[in-house]
Parts: sequence; structure tokens; C-alpha cells
Amino acid sequence: MNDALNASEIAEVQAALAARLSRSRFAHVERVATIAGHLAELWDLDNEPVLRAAWLHDCARELSRAEQRALILPSRWEEAADLGWHGPAGAVVSWQHFGETDRSVLDAIKYHSVPQPDASVLTKLIFVADKLDAGPTQLKSTLDGLPARCADPDQALLCAIEMRLREHIERRRPLLRQDVAVHALLLKRLG
Ligand SMILES: [Fe+2]
Ligand SMILES: [Fe+2]
Repeated sequence: MNDALNASEIAEVQAALAARLSRSRFAHVERVATIAGHLAELWDLDNEPVLRAAWLHDCARELSRAEQRALILPSRWEEAADLGWHGPAGAVVSWQHFGETDRSVLDAIKYHSVPQPDASVLTKLIFVADKLDAGPTQLKSTLDGLPARCADPDQALLCAIEMRLREHIERRRPLLRQDVAVHALLLKRLG
């Protein structure tokens, strides 16, 4: 199913990412790409932009905060802080260093840490694939569960947010404001 993405192109991206990211972060990104590819198939989407966004989504994750800030105009720092910095910084790196020019791919990278109920299907998909990654031992069960849990983008978004809410409760960490707000909105939307 990966025919649409030029093999040498993706190999190039993977090699550049392997040099930028720790081994565990790279492995996470690889699993996110696998989950994203399955969601693309499930939702009948062109998998080329999906895989580009999935592979690139954390490309700025391991830069220092100072490096992330330096990539973003000071007038956008407040927005970048709300989005968790590495998403917006990653969109810049994807454009500057990986030649990514597809606006929908760049947006999916920019917004991948915070749920966006009215965003494109691609943006929702990358958020979901990222949040659903529960590590290498869970990958098969995650993939097996996709048709039931993620039949459409909004159901999938709800499921991914619930996963993160549960995780925060279990670890006694404060819930994220946007998770709680979007969860309520989606419950209403989905009836
Ligand atoms: Fe991320
Ligand atoms: Fe990620």
C-alpha cells in the first residue's frame, strides 16, 4: 500500500531523521507511520501525504526549546507555546530541511500535539496515530483495534483524547485544557 510514496524519497527522509532523533524517538515515529498508513487505508485516503506527515511529525521534537523558538517568529511564540512548540517548529524544519511544501502536511505536523476538532482529516489522523502509539509490544493490538475504535476521524479523535485523559489521570497529571474542551465538543457532535 506504500506504492504512492517514492521509495528512495522515503528512505532519504528516514536516513535524515535517524541522524536527528534518538533511537527510541525514531522507533516511535516508525510506529506512528505504520498506524497512520492503516488509518489512511481505513478512511480511503491518499497515503502519500499521510506518510510524509507521519514521518516528519516529530522532526523537531529533540531540539532544545531555544532552538525551537529560534525557528519561529516571536509574534507566533504564544501560539507555538499553546501547541507545544515542537509541532510548529517541526513544520518549519519540514519545510526548510525536508523540502515539504504541502500546506496540509505542514499543518498536520504543526497541530499534532493538540486536538483540532475542525481541522482537516489529515491533521486529525496524525494526532490520532501519534496518541495511539502505546509502544512496540502494543502495536499489533493497536492496529487490530483500529476498525472498531477509529471508524471515522471524529470517533478516532475522541478515542485518542480519551486515551490521553486516562493516561493523565492514572499518572495524576493535570488534564490538558484543550483535551477536556474537545472531548466535550466531540461527545456532543457524535451524539
Ligand atoms: Fe510530537
Ligand atoms: Fe510523536
